[in-house]
Amino acid sequence: MQHYKTSLVDEAATQALGKSLAHCLQVGIVINLHGDLGAGKTALTRAILHAAGHQGTVKSPTYTLAEPYEILVQGQVTKLMHFDLYRMRSPDEFIEAGFRDEMNEQTICIIEWPEKADGILPLPDLEIHFAIIDVGREVELRALSEKGKVCLSQLHFAPNL
Ligand SMILES: Nc1ncnc2c1ncn2[C@@H]1O[C@H](COP(=O)(O)OP(=O)(O)O)[C@@H](O)[C@H]1O
Ligand SMILES: [Mg+2]
Repeated sequence: MQHYKTSLVDEAATQALGKSLAHCLQVGIVINLHGDLGAGKTALTRAILHAAGHQGTVKSPTYTLAEPYEILVQGQVTKLMHFDLYRMRSPDEFIEAGFRDEMNEQTICIIEWPEKADGILPLPDLEIHFAIIDVGREVELRALSEKGKVCLSQLHFAPNL
């Protein structure tokens, strides 16, 4: 599957999607999150992290731009970097902070506001777009690589559970 679109009627639905996504993560996958402020990018990331075994809080790394976590992926302890690039003034900051090195085969990356690092980020495996609608959110997931396709094909998501 390359493309999946659904609506998320409330925050619980966003959390359910995060939980479903946590089960189809693969080591090294890169997921870009798009959508306005308040669309649900951090809420989704938080749900992924908690479903993947992280027990502490998950705050948006608005000022630090990145926050590292350790999660379990297929029983294996795996590093996950959560980026929020909203406050980045230029893509060079990403390089200067050494973040490019964090994007490697071993590390899962979830990136809010990837637009801010245009031209510097590699193509993601998965792109998730949120749109704020009358009731809830519309979400669209797009696979851009083989890894992304495998992830989407393993996604079992029932929006109203
Ligand atoms: N499907 C949904 N429908 C309605 N509200 C939602 C939904 N998903 C999340 N929310 C709410 O929207 C807000 C999303 O905030 P946040 O995740 O910080 O957004 P972003 O990281 O995209 O700026 C939270 O207040 C959350 O409760
Ligand atoms: Mg956010």
